[in-house]
Amino acid sequence: MRAGGAKNAALPALAAALLSDAPLRLERVPRVRDVETMRRLLAHLGRPSDWRDGALELGAGGVASPDDAPYELVKTMRASVLVLGPLVARRGHGRVSLPGGCAIGVRPIDQHLAGLEALGAEVRLDHGYVDVAAPRLTGARFRFAMPTVTGTENLLMAAALARGTTVLDNCAREPEVVDLARLLTAMGARIEGAGGATITIEGVSSLGAARHAVIPDRIEGGTYLIGAALTRGDVLLDDCLPGDLAPLLGELERAGAEVAVEGRSVRVRRDGPLAPLEVATAPHPGFPTDLQAQLMTLLTQAEGVSTLHETVFENRFQHVAELARMGADIRVEGHVARIHGPAALAGAEVMATDLRASASLVLAGLAAEGETYVDRIYHLDRGYEAMEAKLVALGAAVERLAARAASAP
Ligand code: EPU
Repeated sequence: MRAGGAKNAALPALAAALLSDAPLRLERVPRVRDVETMRRLLAHLGRPSDWRDGALELGAGGVASPDDAPYELVKTMRASVLVLGPLVARRGHGRVSLPGGCAIGVRPIDQHLAGLEALGAEVRLDHGYVDVAAPRLTGARFRFAMPTVTGTENLLMAAALARGTTVLDNCAREPEVVDLARLLTAMGARIEGAGGATITIEGVSSLGAARHAVIPDRIEGGTYLIGAALTRGDVLLDDCLPGDLAPLLGELERAGAEVAVEGRSVRVRRDGPLAPLEVATAPHPGFPTDLQAQLMTLLTQAEGVSTLHETVFENRFQHVAELARMGADIRVEGHVARIHGPAALAGAEVMATDLRASASLVLAGLAAEGETYVDRIYHLDRGYEAMEAKLVALGAAVERLAARAASAP
């Protein structure tokens, strides 16, 4: 099987279109709801896009348009904040509704704003919006208080058009940041060090046309590989970047799965028992928080007690209560979940609370005795393209149901 393009690389790539009026062609963009939300936001900002031969094309722009990201869009997708850096850098002004809380925690954007201020922008909060203005940003040195993925991306885009040199320290090192730097470089930006903690950007006065293929989604691919280990299955993930999956593959091997990497493919199989794990999520190259919920489902089947320590977000254990309803034995203390395995999972009606939590429930359904109904799968559709079709192709019995009339409120 193949994973689609990475949602979290496609979103900043789309935002980068605001840095120029030149045409942009983005290949391997996943057809997921968050991408559609970002397309709507870009169209509102004067950069409409069209699907053509499986790619997203943005023609030459330049029409006068608003420079605000309204609440209706930001409230459904926090990544909308990615338009702030490009708007300020290109148009001298951007206004974005403050994202507020979300299902996985408070998630402030103070670092995005402090970084833009370091480049000379004036930041004002007004009626739930953040208003950022700068006639022309100026290169500066800025150190992030913690590695933030979209914060690093916002600053990369802003600094690309700033006057002079910007040095960013304590940057996020996620592959999605590196992919954005590749796109910006193709557009004419001068960036060095992406993928490391320090990134240097030499500002240029304008950026041009580019064509870019988004990297494969390591979180989507990783979800199916976890599924193989969970169900004593055998999944061959083609055309992926195994290096990006290394933090997961190491844990799957430690748990007793057989992992084989060959070129751009990874195969995960399991015949024997599953061993418990002790895993802490961490910024890349640590274990990704976006696979924590799915790994937890796997660990319900391990023989012994596992611990999962969530260090990136303060409230990312909402799947625990739903997994418990299916028979999992999980105890949470603060940021640590202790999973007592193996537990016999039984199909149940469960409710998705966020994107990755939904994936963990679908996986649990695959391992459970009987039928599982996962409600509110619009969360799933934000980041997984055609999950049911991909699972069916792998041999699972999964169906998408129209909203069930009898579904409990
Ligand atoms: N943080 C701050 N201040 C900031 C920015 C971040 O305190 O100004 C904190 C956050 O609250 C969090 C930590 O720093 O505790 C890391 O957050 P980060 O900013 O890195 O997260 P993000 O950029 O908002 C991206 C992904 C998330 C993924 C995280 C962590 C995108 C569009 N989203 O979010 O993806 O979980 O990085 O890797 O890239 C998902 O796809 O399901 C998802 C939630």
